[in-house]
Amino acid sequence: MIIAVDGPTASGKGTISKALAVHFGLPHLDTGLLYRAVGRQTFLNGGEPDNADDALAACAFPDKLLADASLRSEVAGGMASQVSVHPAVRNALFDRQRAFALQDGGAVLDGRDIGTVIAPDADVKLFVTASIEARAQRRFAEMQGRGEDVQLDVIAEDLRQRDERDRSRAEAPLVAAPGALVLDTSALSKSEAIAAAIDAVEQAYG
Ligand code: DC
Repeated sequence: MIIAVDGPTASGKGTISKALAVHFGLPHLDTGLLYRAVGRQTFLNGGEPDNADDALAACAFPDKLLADASLRSEVAGGMASQVSVHPAVRNALFDRQRAFALQDGGAVLDGRDIGTVIAPDADVKLFVTASIEARAQRRFAEMQGRGEDVQLDVIAEDLRQRDERDRSRAEAPLVAAPGALVLDTSALSKSEAIAAAIDAVEQAYG
């Protein structure tokens, strides 16, 4: 069974995907991490994330970079969003994601274009979303919990900008795949969101 989970930043798609993978005993790939690694490697190379050649060269990042804690930062997320607009970067990361989706027994992948580009043949497609306010509030609590000095309105503005870039890019924009089940987590707790997703997969897959 291939499960495709797409949605904007801080919608809860990562948490939901990990929980689905555990529940259904499937391997999980957070595809955003690949774009974050490209963004970070572009920076380490002294390149410019808006420059397609610099970003493409960074697709040859070493695998150990994927374990680097710095990839989880907001800055890394912003750079990932910048490098992800280049078609050559998306193309360079395609085979790795496609192979993960097609492995024996199936997989859970989460990102922006899993149901539309990477695995349009997925057995179940979920589009996880939430209001900007709910997502900003979650990110704020997370960052405060890590002891970071943050402002709610700055986070909300950053999310708006990332949404805008991810939704308006020409190649593989963030959009619900045809037939995807839309799960709005704005008013749901973490455990409610996970339960709703498991329910949706069970119903869709029979
Ligand atoms: O899911 P995330 O916040 O880690 O993703 C970071 C950025 O990477 C996101 O803003 C857009 C890009 N991305 C993408 O274009 N396609 C994906 N499948 C996953 C992420």
